[in-house]
Amino acid sequence: MAAVLRVDLPENAYDIAIAPGSLPEIGTALTPLGLGKKILLVSNRIVNKYYGDTVRESLTAAGFEVVTHLIPVGERYKTLNSIQKIYDSALEHRFERNSTFLALGGGVIGDMTGFAAATWLRGVKFVQVPTTLLAMVDASVGGKTGVNHPRGKNLIGAFYQPKLVYIDPDVLETLPPREFRAGMAEVIKYGVIWDANLFAQLEAAAHLDTVQTIDPALLETILVRSCQAKADVVRQDEREGGLRAILNYGHTLGHAVESLTGYKVINHGEGVAIGMVAAGQLGVKLDLWDTAAAQRQDALIAKTGLPTTIPDFLAIADLVNILQNDKKVQDGNVRFILPTAIGAVTITDQVPAATLKTVIKACQSAMP
Ligand code: NAD
Ligand code: GLY
Repeated sequence: MAAVLRVDLPENAYDIAIAPGSLPEIGTALTPLGLGKKILLVSNRIVNKYYGDTVRESLTAAGFEVVTHLIPVGERYKTLNSIQKIYDSALEHRFERNSTFLALGGGVIGDMTGFAAATWLRGVKFVQVPTTLLAMVDASVGGKTGVNHPRGKNLIGAFYQPKLVYIDPDVLETLPPREFRAGMAEVIKYGVIWDANLFAQLEAAAHLDTVQTIDPALLETILVRSCQAKADVVRQDEREGGLRAILNYGHTLGHAVESLTGYKVINHGEGVAIGMVAAGQLGVKLDLWDTAAAQRQDALIAKTGLPTTIPDFLAIADLVNILQNDKKVQDGNVRFILPTAIGAVTITDQVPAATLKTVIKACQSAMP
């Protein structure tokens, strides 16, 4: 299996290269991109332990000079303080305008490395080497970069496209199963918002919860179709003037749950799973789609081993309050992406507060 997809943007087009076993060839893959000699490899201790040497050896063999900067593990380090430390490394090692920042890791590393690349010397080149399923199918593609503010997720950032997204699915072998499932939440998202055929293939699968049990052909389909869906949406609306907002399906409430649990209890993908269940229920309450469709979605989420309920200890008032601070608020109204069918969604800020509270309450107990 090897595939190259194009994110066909008018000014910032780039490839997504997907090939198992390709990590040791990364140096050769970067050579035609016309990058400068110096690469700042940004990763964390875990990913660096597994894959840092392979990437460094390949880059060095291809003639690049590599400096490694490690960020502590975890979403709670997705902060401006961590960005400052990347700048410190770049300054110390004299990273000039023609140098490149390379993200080796999950979405946390990718988002931060991209933001540092967007802002260091007003912009240096940037390469994404995603190592989680979530980063492969979503975070590494599309150019959203940034960090969290103590009061809200991803509130600080920039649109900044990479020069290449380089995916070796073999690295998923070491990914903890919980993180694999988190990535599957974004895959299910593409099925619900864009690709009914992908959704049906996921429904038909015997296993979706671990990389070891999933059919390798299905994993290929998942990577290619998810990246294609994201590339299609981003090509039509790079800076989220309209359509791109659909990629936030499940994220509105998901971010609130993730943030209120301190990014420790619920990870990003789990938050999205819970958010999709809630959005599905809002869709039913507002007559946008029917209970049967919502049940198909929720069954797929449950089959993947993802959570489907909001933790009981979270107060409804706190959740509603944090929704008001979300980036997706427009003119004071919370904007929701709600499903109209498997494969289609609509964007609305017309969700009555009472309906929202009822659905949150229902999602805290067993789902219907
Ligand atoms: P993550 O980056 O925190 O990685 C999860 C864990 O897996 C980490 O502990 C990491 O060290 C470990 N890990 C990574 N690759 C591994 C591997 N191959 N083997 C073993 N361990 C490995 O989590 P994530 O789910 O990849 O990313 C979540 C982040 O992505 C959030 O901050 C979210 O906001 C962001 N995100 C951004 C976009 C975007 O468009 N920019 C889209 C979706 C999510
Ligand atoms: N993950 C949402 C987006 O990239 O727009």
